[in-house]
Amino acid sequence: MPRSVRVTGWGAHAPETVLTNADLERIVETSDEWIASRTGIRERRIAGRDETTATLAATAGLRAIATAGLDPDEIDLIIVATLTPDYPMPATAILVKELIGNRRAAAFDVAAACSGFAYGYATADSFVRAGAARHALVVGAETLSRVTDFTDRNTCVLFGDGAGAVVLSASDAEGGGMAGLELTADPGGCELLWIPSGGSRRPVSPGTLARGEHTIRMDGRETYRYATRTLAASAEAAIARAGWTTADVDLVIPHQANIRIIDSVARSLGYPMERVFVNLDRYGNTSAASVGIALAEAVGTGRVQVGDRIVIVAFGAGYTSGAIALEWTADPAASARAAAIPPVRFAHPGDGGTDEDPVPAVLRPILAAAAAAAT
Ligand SMILES: CC(C)(COP(=O)(O)OP(=O)(O)OC[C@H]1O[C@@H](n2cnc3c(N)ncnc32)[C@H](O)[C@@H]1OP(=O)(O)O)[C@@H](O)C(=O)NCCC(=O)NCCS
Repeated sequence: MPRSVRVTGWGAHAPETVLTNADLERIVETSDEWIASRTGIRERRIAGRDETTATLAATAGLRAIATAGLDPDEIDLIIVATLTPDYPMPATAILVKELIGNRRAAAFDVAAACSGFAYGYATADSFVRAGAARHALVVGAETLSRVTDFTDRNTCVLFGDGAGAVVLSASDAEGGGMAGLELTADPGGCELLWIPSGGSRRPVSPGTLARGEHTIRMDGRETYRYATRTLAASAEAAIARAGWTTADVDLVIPHQANIRIIDSVARSLGYPMERVFVNLDRYGNTSAASVGIALAEAVGTGRVQVGDRIVIVAFGAGYTSGAIALEWTADPAASARAAAIPPVRFAHPGDGGTDEDPVPAVLRPILAAAAAAAT
């Protein structure tokens, strides 16, 4: 049995094409001023035709494996947290296994919406702690642009695409890694933040499609209320389980949903904003990917040092929440190794040869303009 389970690798990836608030002004009745002041979001990324949740996850995963100094085949467990899998079946983690060139790993998905990265991390940590895996890859990955209703200004300004990953490894050294965990699930939120159709209760049909029920539906105010209450409580519970006090924490990495939610959580915990990592202005809410992207950026930009005590904390549909208090042990300089990993593109596996464009029609001109500008 290992003495500890440590983060040895981290990586992130987001599609190149940027969807700005100005772009959204041309799609729905909104303004840059409204979006920036109510959410803090200025732009987000959108996946192109040859990008899916699996390709974004594979790129972030390969970057995490590179920072860990491992070969992809040394990974023996792959967990992908997502609410936008490539297919209802098989699990996106299986596609990621193929894309990264791994032949050995067990692979499955975790469905906990925006709390998915914390749920996935906790699951992988348990496998490694129990001796069932030596190196586990955890990826939070989303292509939310494919399930966003671009006629609904209440939701379409919030979400973006991307992926963030960590490698958790068994270690013979004492300490480090996850010290405290809190996971919650409150079914009271089931129909307040959801995608109504596409499952066994309401299969996709002409009727559900016409009503847009295959896209995200949200009660923004209720979700906001839940988030502000729960994020701080979950973080405090994980900190207490670690045997720390809030004063011991060097950096909080919250789910990047809304700057006003993050401000309120920081105030509840008594932290100045310098102790809270924020990048939602550039990515929007990437659901299960958000904390993973933020963690990789925090380490890559020098915000995390060996010995630092970090709290990652997320909330999402369910409602769910997840908080992990962890001690950082890896050399942040390894971040540089991720730069050598180029984006993985969709390889058209045996899916019947469909060449339907998965990108929502309203986004295609933006992707085309970005592609034209790049050549
Ligand atoms: C969505 C959210 C930003 C809305 O902010 P808010 O300050 O609560 O705004 P309200 O819902 O009170 O709406 C205020 C007005 O702005 C309007 N509005 C909503 N979206 C708008 C947009 N993109 N542009 C312009 N106006 C908008 C509303 O229609 C409403 O108008 P009305 O008063 O005429 O009806 C906020 O509720 C939120 O962040 N909720 C949590 C969402 C979240 O994090 N979801 C993911 C969870 S993982």
